[in-house]
Amino acid sequence: MAETNAPTGLSRIFARKSVAQIMSENDKSELKRTLGPVNLVLLGIGCIIGAGIFVRTGNAAALHAGPAVMLSFVVAGFVCALAGLCYAELSSTLPVAGSAYTYSYTTLGEFAAWIMGALLLLEYGLAASVVAVGWSGYVVSLLGDFHLIIPPEFTGPMNHAKTLADGTVITTVFNVPAFLVTLVLACLLTIGISESAQVNNIIVAIKVSVIVAFIVIGGYKVLTNLPELSQNWVPFIPENEGEGKFGIEGVLRAASIVFFAYIGFEAVSTAGQEAKNPKRDMPIGIIGSLMVCTILYMLVAAVLTMMINYKELNVPDPVAVAVDSLGPQWAWFAMTIKAGAIIGLTSVILVLMYGQTRIFYAMARDGLLPRVFSRVHPKFQTPWINTLVVGVIVAFAAGMFDINVLGDVTSVGTLAAFAIVCLSVIWLRQARPDLPRGFKVPLYPILPILGILSCCALIFTVEKKVLIFFVQFLIGATAIYFVYGMWNSKLGKGETVTGHEPPANELPHKID
Ligand code: ALA
Repeated sequence: MAETNAPTGLSRIFARKSVAQIMSENDKSELKRTLGPVNLVLLGIGCIIGAGIFVRTGNAAALHAGPAVMLSFVVAGFVCALAGLCYAELSSTLPVAGSAYTYSYTTLGEFAAWIMGALLLLEYGLAASVVAVGWSGYVVSLLGDFHLIIPPEFTGPMNHAKTLADGTVITTVFNVPAFLVTLVLACLLTIGISESAQVNNIIVAIKVSVIVAFIVIGGYKVLTNLPELSQNWVPFIPENEGEGKFGIEGVLRAASIVFFAYIGFEAVSTAGQEAKNPKRDMPIGIIGSLMVCTILYMLVAAVLTMMINYKELNVPDPVAVAVDSLGPQWAWFAMTIKAGAIIGLTSVILVLMYGQTRIFYAMARDGLLPRVFSRVHPKFQTPWINTLVVGVIVAFAAGMFDINVLGDVTSVGTLAAFAIVCLSVIWLRQARPDLPRGFKVPLYPILPILGILSCCALIFTVEKKVLIFFVQFLIGATAIYFVYGMWNSKLGKGETVTGHEPPANELPHKID
């Protein structure tokens, strides 16, 4: 299946790397098989929980699903489980610590890999902007508790109307906290500061504790005021107002929004080389972390929409709004929850930006992006120019754009990437049935096909303007491939890819 000699004409865009080739390009050092099912589930949870639950749930409930946002989490979790099984099969078949970019290069060919690279820019780069905006919302709220007020004009996207607590409407100019946190984290990544496995475990513990504490204390408040608060659930699915607002249509539309909350679970699949028993543990890791998060998310959604009427949840910090409603005697709890959310969100921004820089690094090493993206700093041993470029792009996106638009574009890009991953499984089963597979998607080909269809179905629930932007983005990406990537591709030129300075294709969880 390898076309390692320079392919010509149109066949260039379908040129594929062989399995042997990707293995020789990746660090072949035997990774220790140390991860059991619990570690894998924790790894997944560490990458999953972030702005999706702390921020986007509010918007999804307020504008699209009402209290039925709980059901949206089930739909989104199911779609992720289908894609997750496909990720697990690919990672157990293609023996590299790779990302979806590498999988595409080996299965569907160079052009698909390029498009995957573009989609991953949305999944990682833009997602980091979304989380940074969420971070900003919680920081502004926490600082407010200490009477430290950032002028509200500088806490929101460019040219956006915002109603303040006293009813005044202002126009926001730029989200300064979101911009700054991104730049600071990019600088830390540049000098090589990142999370170790232990730090990841601590942050997982903080995130899960914050969520469980919210469920328990919020749930207590709900149960002790049930007759009054249960009114917030009437109606459970508000009547369809058209254009994705409420009704079943709205629940599906909200599923594409809260889908964001699950992004990151694929990091588990990249640990295939380190799993003690990949055949058994990979599906447990992926499906287990998705199930744990789905249950936590549903409970948070239930408590949140009972405590606060869904119509009031379209804010950057919905969980903070709910804990603030507990009253002044719970101020310490509100502050703890906000601080925990800020720590959790900081780590997600770091992990997502790290992932983005490594994808650019891999693409530059393959000649698909300018070489400067794979240049490694002599002292810090990090792809520093790449990291700074990513940091600046992510920071400006976070500073300028509305979280809902950023989040929708991220969801669409990621759904498209997942659909390609499901397609790659089908392609590889047909083209290379001989390859040993540590894990196989059950009910093949039904589940991968269902994965493709459900990802596409969720894509088409988003607003038209987001779809139009997405199509323009893909057209732009395609044009750049034909103008630059195709002519500079090392595979296209028949050259060998060399150099393994930093961990190139590794995904976020590998940070240490
Ligand atoms: N799933 C991650 C989050 O919700 C990206 O922040």
